[in-house]
Amino acid sequence: MCGIIGYIGKNKAATVLLDGLERLEYRGYDSAGMAVYDGEKINLAKAAGRLNVLYNLTRGGETLPGGLGIGHTRWATHGGPNTDNAHPHVNRDRSIAVVMNGIIENYLPLRKRLIARGYEFVSETDTEVLPHLLDHYYSGDPRKAIIRMLHRIEGSFALGIIFKDHPDTLYAVRKNCPLIVGIGEGENFIASDVTAILRHTRKVVYVDNMEIAEIRTDRVDYYSMDEEVLEKTPTTVDWDVSAAEKGGYEHFMLKEMMEQPKVVRDTLSPRLQNGRIVIEELKMTEEELAAVNKVFIVACGSAYHTGVVAKYIFENLARMPVEVDLASEFRYRDPLLKHDDLVVVISQSGETADTLEALKMAKEVGCKILAIVNVVGSSIAREADFVMYTWAGPEIAVATTKAYSAQLIALYLLAMKFAGARGFLHGRKYKAMIDEMTKLPEQIEMLLNNREEIQRIASRYIAARDVFFIGRGIDYAISLEGSLKLKEISYIHSEAYAAGELKHGTISLVEEGTLFAAVATQPALKDKMLSNIKEVKARGAVVLAVTTMGSSEIENAADYTVTLPETNPLFADSLAIIPLQMLAYYIAVGRGCDVDKPRNLAKSVTVE
Ligand code: F6R
Repeated sequence: MCGIIGYIGKNKAATVLLDGLERLEYRGYDSAGMAVYDGEKINLAKAAGRLNVLYNLTRGGETLPGGLGIGHTRWATHGGPNTDNAHPHVNRDRSIAVVMNGIIENYLPLRKRLIARGYEFVSETDTEVLPHLLDHYYSGDPRKAIIRMLHRIEGSFALGIIFKDHPDTLYAVRKNCPLIVGIGEGENFIASDVTAILRHTRKVVYVDNMEIAEIRTDRVDYYSMDEEVLEKTPTTVDWDVSAAEKGGYEHFMLKEMMEQPKVVRDTLSPRLQNGRIVIEELKMTEEELAAVNKVFIVACGSAYHTGVVAKYIFENLARMPVEVDLASEFRYRDPLLKHDDLVVVISQSGETADTLEALKMAKEVGCKILAIVNVVGSSIAREADFVMYTWAGPEIAVATTKAYSAQLIALYLLAMKFAGARGFLHGRKYKAMIDEMTKLPEQIEMLLNNREEIQRIASRYIAARDVFFIGRGIDYAISLEGSLKLKEISYIHSEAYAAGELKHGTISLVEEGTLFAAVATQPALKDKMLSNIKEVKARGAVVLAVTTMGSSEIENAADYTVTLPETNPLFADSLAIIPLQMLAYYIAVGRGCDVDKPRNLAKSVTVE
């Protein structure tokens, strides 16, 4: 969603801000702006649309001189994407400028009171109450004004603030939205996301909720709401700059798909020791694992889809009950949680608002929380009892691919760990599964390298109106993800169906030429899938089958077939997802879509 960058130092702030904003583009935005102090006053530049509009408006930052500034990319929530609503927002004499990610829930009564006091609003945003509130409370000491404002506002937010009267300091504070301080040499930064400042520094401090950071060129001080000085230790981020760049690929999405063999290997290998699964992060003994009553898996979007796959694997291997929930549903459905249940939350960003709140809710009941997260130090990682990191590196394309694949691997490991602890997986079967799992990176690579066929098929369906994805069991779970990938980046209407459910209504949508991707990797369900393929074929559908070797009947019935390398059926979807991602990618490219930044979407959904 929105992105924040702030700078104080010897260089031109506007140049650093524009560069940082460009690196935050992937999060999704529809307007952008900057405020820079020029030695006398705060100058503002804001523009609706893509960042190049702001770039041209400021001639690459030239029109905003000065070494202190804040920048923002806004994803419209309160009020449309226009210049007035773009951040930064300022007080009446433009002596205070604020950028915000998040939401101020009580902005309406605050706005009313401020208007009654004579403040004038130019935007429809919730953020604009902040510079006016600060103006109201300010009497020479910015920290005191910020603290008084924090006592008044409700919601989740990350803020960057500058005061004209204090040009040696950049102020930052957060509550439930990500914010880091980047430590440089003679310059310092704030950002909502480490990728914005990676090219300047890898030394970062994670600001905690309601801590006020006062950033100067040569030092940073942190204060509590009681103005006590806080000690904070910087951490070094080990992502390198190239990880956040395209590296010769046309799109981040393609680059990230191609990184999947490495990501899967990186997530797997540290957890395999001497032929055994060791999940050091999960600080539970085998007895404690065996005593877990039930597993709840909670996540959103693609991360939720990995949870649906995991349910099948947990139940099959570990013979234990698993419930999978969308975080936005789980939060409000009053689930029957018990303290001996394990709640597994899955999130690439580690900042998804619904997943974070679901986690907190389960924690209150006393459940142990395991988070499967990609971003180190993210809010979900910090709130959970145990964190299993997916070592996927920064994922820039809005549509997830490599993080999804890494999440699947983490979940396979977890399911096998539980199955072992409960006495259902050992000996030859355990060893064979580990062997098969270690072959996955190579097999994924093979599929990625043979992508011409999918590219050819995709080129015939760039004008499709509807595409359906069908499968049974785990293959239904993977269909959910295949369908989401296609619709989110190509804007083609698409649905995933449990293949056996089609004839209960949806089959009426099949017309001559409607494309069906039929995933059939599960040996026990292949005959059933064959019937479903024949049913839709008989009504005019074109079928792309994604199946495994030895499926000649399916191959004969389908119009196109992608055959996957041989693996354990429980892992087959790590392979099946590759052609589905490719199909979505090449269709979207063929339609001329902005693949890395699909319309209306944000990378990290930090509002409910
Ligand atoms: C789709 C996609 C989203 C995310 C969802 C959860 O390609 O990326 O559906 O999976 O927004 O995000 P995280 O994993 O960051 O919690």
